[in-house]
Amino acid sequence: MKDNLIITIAGGGSTYTPGIVSALLSNSSKFPITEMRLYDINPKRNKDMKLIINQLLIDKDRQDMKLVVTENPEEAFTNVDFVFSQIRVGGLAMREQDEKIPLKYDLVGQETCGLGGFAYGLRSIGGILEIVGYVQQYAPDAWILNYTNPESIISEAIRRKYPDANMINVCDMTISLEETIASNFGYDRKNWIPTYYGLNHYGWYSKIYDTSLKRDVMPEIIDKLRQVNMDVAEFNEGDRYWAKTYQLMSAMVKYFPEALPNNYLEYYWFPDLMVENEDKYFTRANMVMEGREANTRKMAEQIRNGETEDILHFNFGEHGNYIVDIAVAILNDEPKRFMVITPNKGSIPNLREDAVVEVPAYIGATGVEQLALHPINDFHKGMMEAQVAAEKLLVDAFFENSYDKALQAFTLNQTVPSARAAKQVLDEMLIANKDYWPELH
Ligand code: NAD
Ligand code: G6P
Ligand code: MN
Repeated sequence: MKDNLIITIAGGGSTYTPGIVSALLSNSSKFPITEMRLYDINPKRNKDMKLIINQLLIDKDRQDMKLVVTENPEEAFTNVDFVFSQIRVGGLAMREQDEKIPLKYDLVGQETCGLGGFAYGLRSIGGILEIVGYVQQYAPDAWILNYTNPESIISEAIRRKYPDANMINVCDMTISLEETIASNFGYDRKNWIPTYYGLNHYGWYSKIYDTSLKRDVMPEIIDKLRQVNMDVAEFNEGDRYWAKTYQLMSAMVKYFPEALPNNYLEYYWFPDLMVENEDKYFTRANMVMEGREANTRKMAEQIRNGETEDILHFNFGEHGNYIVDIAVAILNDEPKRFMVITPNKGSIPNLREDAVVEVPAYIGATGVEQLALHPINDFHKGMMEAQVAAEKLLVDAFFENSYDKALQAFTLNQTVPSARAAKQVLDEMLIANKDYWPELH
């Protein structure tokens, strides 16, 4: 095992960086880092995060680790071993537009679902292709572990442009959901072996095997959810957005009790209800700006003012641990099971091979080795096929600069009832995204 790793966090100014760094520091015996680099295009966010991470290293007595904070890609990626990627092209200001523009037309306005997710996709692809390009140039053997959203669309673009990249795309939603369910109903998630299939933020559990109870606990969880609403997980406490999200799980399994859905399916099954529940003038982006984002700025300011006692308050649940566990499994070649976003290649046998799906896989030194699953039913297959086609059309629009393909993608999105509404939103988003989207004509 290599014992002098260099790692880079791309989007180092992200509010999630401290969580990932904490997880890395907790795993130092199995993941020995000597140099940590933060790469971001925003110097102000880089400066703030440098203060915070430096303070974290002091608090954990890890000042032996070299910390490099840079806006220079060559300095960031040369000879790096692992890249953790979590960029947000356009920042929270553009997330706010993604959410608010569709809501004006009574359509779902969300970070990764519906037309907000598609707008984010057209912004994000360029940024992530740039990062993968830098890694190919400066450290072609490095692993890229990616959290950057919207993940299905990102993964489809990477699959086309860099099919051989050492890149693994993962999402923390399945573990967050499992953690919430387990703690609500008295299970221990660490005993669970979940089987899940779908697209990112768009899938279903078919089985949750509990190794301690020695049975599939999914049917009883669905029964429980049908009887009682869930509360929020500890790390989301006080967060009414997530509280509502988890409570709506009960409504979903009352309608469709044969499989446990990902909470994000709420946006596709109940778009009208989700729009009704939104405040069109104060969306999730605003909550995050006033919460996580403001707290991060405040922490940096406090350190700048010389206050260093007890200021690092972070609780990101399993987010950091999950991606670091994958890095540890690769480096130590200790294959473990994770949920990954990856080209289907037959995993779901009755879905096109070149769809990007989210399925269980073992990950070790050889990368992703996904499971072969059972064929899926027509309800789920029909939904997924429409969503896959819409995402592929969107990625076509990006690479071909095609307005027509973008309009087809927007129209096919299952949160959209008419081509007219799709076109109105697309045209307004084109203007709002003029600094970020490729030209569409
Ligand atoms: P954030 O805005 O706080 O941080 C993102 C950082 O990326 C910013 O500092 C920004 O300056 C930087 N950035 C933007 N474009 C860049 C580029 N081209 N190159 C380098 N850096 C760039 O956002 P956040 O809330 O911390 O989220 C970060 C990302 O992680 C988002 O894409 C978000 O959707 C994603 N996320 C994914 C999951 C998951 O489970 N998949 C979970 C949480 C967050
Ligand atoms: C979950 C999802 C991510 C998404 C995040 C949004 O973690 O898996 O893909 O980005 O939630 O959280 P936020 O607090 O930014 O709304
Ligand atoms: Mn996610």
